Formats: sequence, structure tokens, C-alpha cells
Amino acid sequence: MPTVTIDDRIVEVPAGTNLIEAGQRVGIQIPHYCWHPRLSVVGQCRMCMVEIEGMPKLQTACSTQVVKDGMVVRTKTPAVLEAQRAIMEFLLINHPLDCPICDQAGECALQDYGFKHGQAFSRFRYEEKRTYPEKERVPLGPHVLLNMNRCIHCTRCVRFTQEISGTGEIGFFQRGARKEIGVFPGRPLDNPLSANVVDICPVGALTSTRFRFAERVWYLDKKPSLCTGCDVGCNVTIEHRRGRIRRYKPRLNPEVNDHWLCDFGRTTAERYDELPRLLAPRIRKDGTERAVSWREALDTTTQRLRARSNEGPLAFLGSGFLSSEEAFLLAALADAVDSPHRAIWVDSGPARRIPNPRGWIEGRDAAPNRRGAELAGLVPGKGGIDASELLVGDAAARCSFLFVADSDFGRAAHDPKVVERLRGAQFLVVMGWADTPLARVADIALPVATHAEREGTFVNVEGRLQRFSPAFPPPSQVREALSVLGELLARFRPELAGRSIAEVFADMAAQRPAFSGRRWEAIPATGTVLESIARVAPAAEG
Ligand code: SF4
Ligand code: SF4
Ligand code: FES
Repeated sequence: MPTVTIDDRIVEVPAGTNLIEAGQRVGIQIPHYCWHPRLSVVGQCRMCMVEIEGMPKLQTACSTQVVKDGMVVRTKTPAVLEAQRAIMEFLLINHPLDCPICDQAGECALQDYGFKHGQAFSRFRYEEKRTYPEKERVPLGPHVLLNMNRCIHCTRCVRFTQEISGTGEIGFFQRGARKEIGVFPGRPLDNPLSANVVDICPVGALTSTRFRFAERVWYLDKKPSLCTGCDVGCNVTIEHRRGRIRRYKPRLNPEVNDHWLCDFGRTTAERYDELPRLLAPRIRKDGTERAVSWREALDTTTQRLRARSNEGPLAFLGSGFLSSEEAFLLAALADAVDSPHRAIWVDSGPARRIPNPRGWIEGRDAAPNRRGAELAGLVPGKGGIDASELLVGDAAARCSFLFVADSDFGRAAHDPKVVERLRGAQFLVVMGWADTPLARVADIALPVATHAEREGTFVNVEGRLQRFSPAFPPPSQVREALSVLGELLARFRPELAGRSIAEVFADMAAQRPAFSGRRWEAIPATGTVLESIARVAPAAEG
């Protein structure tokens, strides 16, 4: 591999690496607007100028590749600093500088580079800036608004729709100083990946319809997590303010979602605001409900599980929203009472597709972890009742005890007919974060944390095991499902009391072949593939 010297630091890089990436490897940030690691190089913004020994003029770092040994690059010479100042001055001449009302403020490359590489005064002495009248809030599609006055003409959005989504809705119109971004007539920006252009627009020209004026970004706490919209398992950053999720941003994982998220996935956290929350354990008796302590709720559940009068099956229904560890404990609870009746229900959803450097991943489940729950053992034993017998057939009416481990397991949890069917069990326990119609008819309702409030693993459609962790704590009376299931299990198997998630994972790895040899602490940040079952769809046609 060739070596290059950047600001006196020597770095070895694969041939063909450009100078921006080579600099990043040794902690040298070369400012840039138009370059993006997954888009073609256009050399449009001229912000990335560097000096290269032996070359008479400054060169753009984005379009200069390291091809052989011995290149010497300088990024902070007087000529480079002057070029950066000149570009900043040029970009700001016509910029509206409306940061106080711009959603991008606080995460804007124009602001950041203005501070780092610009100058504190303007030499522009004319009254009129170039503006685009009536182009301050142009809907390009359902998720994206354009403010043309803020655009710096970097073409990232154009290249995204040409090269990544393959849909090509965005283009440049007009010429010279009047050049402007827009969509082609009759072709709104409504492809399933459309909101990614908001993320890659370096300034506030493209903003999100959903997030518009919702929050100043510096008030948001950011925590890594996973999307629960489907079984692709996109890596996200949850951005929340005091436990209220305001948006998801894509988190780089080249093995899964790369730099991207689908538009649907970005909306999924809104479900936590749409449904009422289950906030305390609740017992329903003779038609009246009362909030109870966790001890009373779990004591009553245990008594019903142990009741000698149980004449029908004891059944356990999970969902694809359970973590692998929770599914493992639910299956272990079924084992502890000798029940083969354990299953999960997962709605199939419209296909969701995400591109990464290997191709496209396609998810078809409307939940993130059917695969992990099944591999963890949540499948019917010999002669066991399956999920459709409970939801569509009359199996629930035969059950003396039914434990539904997710109050919002799918559309059926809101279907009065299915709710009535499940209510046919002699004793119904429903655990979940949402106070759904199903939770409201349960004999016992157990409030547990959302995925943003707990930790665990999901296994995606390609068999990739990925960890997620809590972004914020659950409300005071709400517990993690893992601890609830662990406590119930310990009443039958006291030796398993008080096990941490790492210990539960170790038990699962010891007992379930798919997880064999894995350790909780050793799961890499990008996940690890359990099985080679990749379902990679062909790339979209451009
Ligand atoms: S709208 Fe944003 S991404 Fe598109 S060209 Fe303008 S500045 Fe670049
Ligand atoms: S593809 Fe699936 S996991 Fe990825 S963002 Fe969309 S819904 Fe979420
Ligand atoms: S990043 Fe190099 S010219 Fe824009």
C-alpha cells in the first residue's frame, strides 16, 4: 500500500484512497461540503483545497487519490487557509444567515466551517443578496422541504437520487448564479429513502417535514440503538429530549444500513407517542381494574401458573419485538411449567429495502427479531399450540392460562375479534409497554420498557446478531421485560434468580446452537452473523 505524508504524519492507505479519507485516518480533518464517501466525486465546492509538493497550484483533496509512495500534502499552509477563507466568504455572500430559525443550526457544516475556516467580518457592501423569492419552503415530497436561499449547490442531493436511491427525482435547473435545485415536473421526491437527502445536505437547505421546528438540536441527547420497523435491523441514533424521542438518525454500519435509513423507519418511534402507555401493574377482577404492586402482580401470575385446577394448556405468545434474551426466558418459563405451547406472532409488512456496499438488504417482517426469538427457542414444542391457532383458531378458549408477552405484538392486538378470542383463555396475562385493547381486557397487565429503555439483541434478516442499549430509563413503575421474566422464572428455578443480561445471554449461548460460542461482551459494534442466510436483493435499477 502506498504511503502519503499529510502535515508531517505518515499514513499508509490502499491505492486509490483520496486525501480526505487518508487525512481522517491520522486525525486530520480536511473541510469539505460536496464530497461524501458513498457518492461520486464532483469537486464542486472547492472547500477541500490542499497543497501537494511538486504541484504548482492547490488541489482538491476529494478528487486527488494516493496512487504511489511519496506524496507530501499540507493542509494548513497560508495559501490553503486563504483559499478556505475565500470559499467561505463566497458561500456566505448570498447566504441568508437565518440560523436562529434554521433547523440545521447546531449541526450545520456552514456554521462549523464558518467558525473554523472563515472570517469574522464581511466585505460584501451591496444591499441586495441573491435570493430565490417564493422558494423558502418548497415541498419536494412528503418528507422533505427545500429552502433554496440556503443551498450551496453541492449536488449531494442530486447524486443521492441518481446513485443511491436510483430514482433521479432531483436536478439542477437554470444556470449560473440563478442555478437552483428542484424536482422534475410530475416527479415528487417520494421514494422510500427520500429523507436521507436531509441528512446529507450539509446546510439547512433541505429539512425534514416531520422534524421541522420540533426541537433545537443542541437540546437532544443521542444514544445508539436499532430501528424496530422491520427485520433489516438498521443502526440508528435515538435523539431524545428527556425521554421523548424526537427523531432517528442513521448510524453508520456498512454491513447493514451503511449511511442510510428508510423513511418508514424514521417514523416508527412515533408509535410510542400514539398509543397510551401502561404505567403500573394492573389486576382486573370481576370487571374492575386496580393498580397493584409488582409483588402482587407476579405472585398472582405465579399462583395461576402453579394452580392445580389448571386443566387446559398453559400457553405463551411472544412477538418479534422481544429481544432474543427475553424470548429465551419466555421459552424457559414455558419449559419450567412443562408447556410445549410457546410461539411468536409477527406481522408481515411491506418490503423495506436498504442499500449498503454489498447490495440491498430487504426486510419483510414488521418487527425486528422474529429470527432471534425463534433461534432462542420460542417455537412450539411437540404438539404445541402455534400462534395462528391462538389468533385465528379457537385454541385460546381451551387454555387455562395464556401469557401474551407483548401487548402490541401486531395489528391483531388491536382487532376486537382477536382480542375477544385471546380473552377466551381462563386467565390472561399481558405484558407490554402499550395499553392496547388486549392489555385492557387482561386479568393481569404488566408494564415493561420500550426498546429505547432496555437492552438486548436482535437478529436481522441476514442472521446478524446486533446489540441495542437503553437511551433513557423507563418510567418509575415500569420494569425491563428481562427482569420480569427472570423473576417469574426464578420462582420455578430459584438457582436462576438475579441473572444479568450477560448471564442470560451465556445461558442462551450454552443451550441454543445458533448462539453457541458467542459472548455478550464480545458482540462487535457492527454485529456478527449467526448463520449464512443472507437474502440480498439485486441493486435497484438506476
Ligand atoms: S439542497 Fe443541500 S444537498 Fe442539495 S445541492 Fe443544495 S446544499 Fe447541496
Ligand atoms: S429498512 Fe427496516 S430497519 Fe431499516 S430503517 Fe427501514 S424500517 Fe427500520
Ligand atoms: S469536497 Fe472537494 S471540492 Fe467539494
